[in-house]
Amino acid sequence: ADVFTFDPGFTSTASCASAITYIDGDKGELWYRGYPIEQLALHGHHLETAYLLLYGDLPTPKQMEDFENRVTRHTMVHEQMHYFFRGFRRDSHPMATMVGVVGALSAFYHDSLDINDPWHREVASIRLIAKLPTIAAMAYKYSIGQPFVYPRNELDYASNFLHMCFSVPAEEYKVDPALARAMDRIMMLHADHEQNASTSTVRLAGSSGANPFACIAAGIACLWGPAHGGANQACLEMLQEIGTVDRIPEYIKRAKDKDDPFRLMGFGHRVYKNFDPRAKIMKESADEVLGILGIEDNPTLQVAKELERIALEDEYFVQKKLYPNVDFYSGIILSAMGFPTAMFTPIFALSRTVGWISQWTEMLGDPDSKIGRPRQLYVGQDRRDYVPVADR
Ligand code: CMC
Repeated sequence: ADVFTFDPGFTSTASCASAITYIDGDKGELWYRGYPIEQLALHGHHLETAYLLLYGDLPTPKQMEDFENRVTRHTMVHEQMHYFFRGFRRDSHPMATMVGVVGALSAFYHDSLDINDPWHREVASIRLIAKLPTIAAMAYKYSIGQPFVYPRNELDYASNFLHMCFSVPAEEYKVDPALARAMDRIMMLHADHEQNASTSTVRLAGSSGANPFACIAAGIACLWGPAHGGANQACLEMLQEIGTVDRIPEYIKRAKDKDDPFRLMGFGHRVYKNFDPRAKIMKESADEVLGILGIEDNPTLQVAKELERIALEDEYFVQKKLYPNVDFYSGIILSAMGFPTAMFTPIFALSRTVGWISQWTEMLGDPDSKIGRPRQLYVGQDRRDYVPVADR
């Protein structure tokens, strides 16, 4: 008989060997290719991180310039895709649109679908990293009934995304460099996180030889759930619903109640049993961004800080080692920048694309990788005989 381990939710199964991202959940540490996330967030930027994750080392100035040029050349989507967007209902959630549009990229870019050809893999990777911000911004514009805004390639990656989201024909959005920096940092903090649900989905889809556009669409679909990337939207909505500091105890009580399905969104993590290092950086960024915008007294930030303080002193959260995760403060920053909650998960998706692509590339280059095919524990009926319908 087959012998295998029963491990629902894969809490103790390593599905692959990977040299990209390291997490020490007890210490609350996160490294990309060996570099602590705090150092990258302080000194680096998202496209540099993308290069690091994809190719394994930080780029030289020349390598950085080449990479930026290549990404920049691919930021436009085929003009025909505009019609594809128009097929969606006018008020579609941007994530719904993105799942469809990113999957459809394989119908538009036939020339980079041979996954056995390293050059094809490379072009598809660059296309995805370059086009995801454009597609996310288009999905947003479409959902609010505004015309699409073309990329402006003299802008850096984060500024260009802000421009595509917030410029309107009558008025070009003036990108504040400090806000662009905060946006870039959000992208970088979300760039990779080893074998989380969406990354495992991308690997599983890719293990069958599926094309990269289809694999990333699968990752986006998985990310959307509220237990994963959808938590940033759910978290801000929860903070807004709480509304005032005096209502916090009521929600803490609900989160602890076994009979109530409510959970504190933005709290808890499968791997971190200590502070999520990204949440600490996000909290600093939230203070900074709200300071720049002159809205330090933002009630949602006050609720978030007080909720964090109370939860961290509460026996339930202490005992279960539940700490704020990356989604706890990111929504406050994005909302202050002018993004509606529906755009939070698309921003997570475009940022994580870099990690998905890096993991997919690593998998294809690994001689030991095989098609992913989990086993199961069968708990159904024993063998039985068919009864004709008239006799049932
Ligand atoms: N509020 C209240 N209780 C919680 C929470 C929470 N946010 N998270 C976990 N618990 C409790 C849970 O009820 C369980 O209690 P018990 O052992 O008594 O049954 C215990 O803590 C362990 O939880 P679990 O669901 O078995 O742990 P998990 O590793 O399967 O789930 C999680 C991890 C992130 C899905 C979960 O903590 C959660 O639902 N958090 C809220 C959603 C969220 O913020 N997700 C974002 C995760 S980070 C970014 C990302 O992945 O996108």
